[in-house]
Amino acid sequence: MKNISVIGAGTMGNGIAHVFAQNGFKVNLADISQAQLEKALATISKNLDRQIAKGTLTEDSKQSTLDNITTLTSIAEGVKNVELVVEAATENLELKLDIFRQLDEAASGDCILATNTSSISVTKIAAATRRPQMVIGMHFMNPVPVMKLVEIINGYATSQEVTGKIVDLGKSLGKVPCVVNDYPGFIANRVLMPMINEAIYSLYERVAGVEEIDTIMKLGMAHPMGPLQLADFIGLDVCLSILNVLYQGFGNQKYAPCPLLVNMVNAGYKGVKSGEGFYKYSAGSKDLLVSERFK
Ligand SMILES: NC(=O)c1ccc[n+]([C@@H]2O[C@H](COP(=O)([O-])OP(=O)(O)OC[C@H]3O[C@@H](n4cnc5c(N)ncnc54)[C@H](O)[C@@H]3O)[C@@H](O)[C@H]2O)c1
Repeated sequence: MKNISVIGAGTMGNGIAHVFAQNGFKVNLADISQAQLEKALATISKNLDRQIAKGTLTEDSKQSTLDNITTLTSIAEGVKNVELVVEAATENLELKLDIFRQLDEAASGDCILATNTSSISVTKIAAATRRPQMVIGMHFMNPVPVMKLVEIINGYATSQEVTGKIVDLGKSLGKVPCVVNDYPGFIANRVLMPMINEAIYSLYERVAGVEEIDTIMKLGMAHPMGPLQLADFIGLDVCLSILNVLYQGFGNQKYAPCPLLVNMVNAGYKGVKSGEGFYKYSAGSKDLLVSERFK
C-alpha cells in the first residue's frame, strides 16, 4: 500500500494523516469543511515542529511529510486510486452509514475500507457496503502520533486476509496492533468506561472525593492519570455516549451510566472542552484544580 485516504480532518483525522504521511504514504485528506482542512494542516505542521524540537525528526522529513498530504473537500475525488480509506468523521451512525455507501460507490473494488469509530458497530457499517469482507475497524488512540496502540476490530464478515494486511500496515507505521472482535465497546472502551463510571459512582455516593479517587488510581495502580481526570479529557459527553452503547448493546445494568454523569452532561459540564468537569480548567494554567462543586 502506498496511497491512502483519510475521511474527516478533525482531532483524529489530522493525527492519522500525519502518521501515514510521515511513514511515506501519499495521503488524500478529505473533509466537508475547508476550514477544518486548513486547521488540520496547521496542527500537523505544529506537531511536526514539536518532533523536530525533540530531535526525533529533521526539517527535510517535515517538508516531505507535508508534501505527502493533499487536502480535498470531495470524498469521491479523495478515494480515487487509493488502496485504503481510513474514515475518521464525526461519531454518528447515520453519517457513517452514508459515508460508507459513498466510499463503496467511489473506491476501487480492491480498496479496504477502515473506520476509526470508538463505539459504532463495525459489522453494521460494513453491512452498508457491498464489500463487508473488506471493512474493518482501525481504532487509533488520541494523540495519534504519540500513542502506540491501534485496536484492530474484525467485523462479523471481515476476511482474515484483510485483517492480516491491516495488522502488517499498523506495524509498518510503528504502532502495536491488537486484534479484537466486534462487540460493543470492543476492548479499549469496554474495559475503560466501566472503570470511569465506577469512579463517578464512588464520587456520587460520597465514598471519596475527586482528588482521593484519582490519587488512589494514579499512585496505587500506576495509571498516568486518574479516571476522573481522564474522563474530563475524553469529554464527559463522549463517555456518556459510549456507556449508553455498552448499556444498550449488552442489555446489562452494570453499564448503566451514573446519574451524576448524566446530570453533568445535561448541564453542559463536559470536561476540558467546556472548561469544567470534575476539575476546572483555565486557559494557560497547568494546575489541576478540583471543581468547586466537588469541594
Ligand atoms: N477524539 C478522540 O479521542 C477519539 C479517539 C478514538 C477514536 N475517535 C473516533 O474518531 C472519529 C472522529 O473523531 P474526532 O474526535 O476526530 O471528531 P472531530 O469532531 O474532531 O472531527 C470530525 C471531522 O469529521 C468531519 N466530517 C463530518 N461529516 C463529514 C463528511 N460527511 N465527510 C467528511 N468529513 C466529515 C468534520 O468536519 C470534522 O472535521 C469518531 O468516530 C470518534 O469516535 C475519537
